[in-house]
Amino acid sequence: MLTMIDIIDDRNPHLREKSAELTFPLTDEQKNIAEEMLTYLKNSQDDTLAEKYGLRPGVGLAAPQIDRLWRMIAIHTIDEQEKEHSFVLVNPKIVSHSEEKTYLADGEGCLSVNYDVDGITPRYARITVEAFNLAGEKLVLRFRDFMAIVLQHEIDHLDGVLFYDHINPKMEAMVRAKARAL
Ligand code: NI
Repeated sequence: MLTMIDIIDDRNPHLREKSAELTFPLTDEQKNIAEEMLTYLKNSQDDTLAEKYGLRPGVGLAAPQIDRLWRMIAIHTIDEQEKEHSFVLVNPKIVSHSEEKTYLADGEGCLSVNYDVDGITPRYARITVEAFNLAGEKLVLRFRDFMAIVLQHEIDHLDGVLFYDHINPKMEAMVRAKARAL
């Protein structure tokens, strides 16, 4: 079972590397890690388990955060309509996006960033993602608002990018004027 000990933080240079695409069929290790990543997210949202194992709550996790430089992300959360989204994506790629941007009014957080960062992270309000599931089937998925933000945050990890890289205090007034707060 993954715990915070397994998650590397932003002092580890591996988090800044570009992860490699995976090929199918996935290895047993890759499939196990996918399952473990999703389980971590579920456990971290269970108050009892989170307290027992000292898990910081998260809605998304990327393989490089557990020091596997693979293009694989796990998401477990609910959207604005209370619909649950729980899945793993392999080799996810944003193939198109809206002009419109959005941002989380309270800022983003990350399981690999163990301190508060002020500022807002502009994200596309809508994205289309091409990816594969664990069985190697190709998927084309559309996300908006909160889900779009989560996906962009996790896919950024695969390129060694952290949410605070997008924070620009000089641009903040413009972002607030033009983008929609969530
Ligand atoms: Ni993160």
